[in-house]
Amino acid sequence: MARIVIHTAKRPHRHVTDKGEEVWICMCGLSDTYPICSGKHRLVAREKDDEIHLYDQHGNKIAVVSDHAMLKALEGVRRV
Ligand code: FES
Repeated sequence: MARIVIHTAKRPHRHVTDKGEEVWICMCGLSDTYPICSGKHRLVAREKDDEIHLYDQHGNKIAVVSDHAMLKALEGVRRV
């Protein structure tokens, strides 16, 4: 079983615990220490909004989808 979820965030989310500790939650989906941010969001800083970038399990970019028909097909995929 597998699923595709498109992460559109380019930065982590700052969370402060009840004890006042600051935790940065990964929103880009590429963290080595998911769900905690590992800094890998720097890789997505220059991604264009009209493209979809595909990464392997090690965080290496393997493809960029910019074809209009493919982007249209992926339009309904869940985005977080
Ligand atoms: S937000 Fe994903 S690694 Fe930082």
